[in-house]
Amino acid sequence: MKKYLVIGNPIEHSLSPKLHNYWIKQNNINASYEKKLISEDDIANIISKVKSEEITGINVTVPFKNKIVPFVDILTKEADQTKSINTIYYEKGKTIGHNTDIAGFELGIRSYGYNIEKKNIFILGAGGVVPSIIVALKKMKASNIFLYNRTLDKAKVLKDNFNYIKIIENNEIPEHIDMIINATSLGINKDDKIDLDYEKIGSNKFYYDIIYNPPQTNFLKQAKIFGNNTENGKMMFIYQAHQAFSIWHKVFPKIDEKVIELLDK
Ligand code: ATR
Repeated sequence: MKKYLVIGNPIEHSLSPKLHNYWIKQNNINASYEKKLISEDDIANIISKVKSEEITGINVTVPFKNKIVPFVDILTKEADQTKSINTIYYEKGKTIGHNTDIAGFELGIRSYGYNIEKKNIFILGAGGVVPSIIVALKKMKASNIFLYNRTLDKAKVLKDNFNYIKIIENNEIPEHIDMIINATSLGINKDDKIDLDYEKIGSNKFYYDIIYNPPQTNFLKQAKIFGNNTENGKMMFIYQAHQAFSIWHKVFPKIDEKVIELLDK
């Protein structure tokens, strides 16, 4: 039986095993997918198990997507662009680090029928998933990508890597924005609030929260009150998993209402 893992810290909240095991069963694949809490010191050992083929594939989540980069033999273009790995596999004697968050974000947004082309986008946050969002937005031909982060230095590091983004300081709001993305961890706890002037931003914008659990963060609730369209990160999560699954098992699993509902339970 082939063994797959999602590694992170914390990991308890991860819904990846639920989704992957559902698809594994649906497609009659002889495999198991488990979550594993690790510390940074465990990374080398886990990767060695991919090399010895004890583990067939790994998903990587917070806070190791970047830290794991030096441990794999080869980075795919997507992993190299973002210095972020969320999917690992083994091919021709080499461990490969890949990033399916870029495609996950793009396919998720497309599933809502939203067109990023020529739009002005405002990203809140500079954490692990943000390089993938920036690359996806650029690929989808966003006009301007603005970014605000509480810690300015982290925003500046992103600017060094993606010189086309525009850093916003002092919690100002860029003019003429079409879409606002919450890529901070604020909202994971249901009482979290984001310090944002919703009234000033106006109405009929697209508010998108990377967080999908809880499904309605205060960010999305406030956005609705002020007459905006909202979506959470559930479809991004499903599509990044779908991409990883297709690479590992060479099968395109179904994304239907059942799969979408599965993650609500
Ligand atoms: P990491 O930073 O380790 O990659 P993450 O969960 O991917 O972790 O990212 C957390 C993001 O949420 C960061 O942008 C963080 O801002 P800082 O860089 O200033 O830490 C943001 N964040 C978390 N708590 C926040 C808070 N109370 N107010 C504003 N931003 C917050």
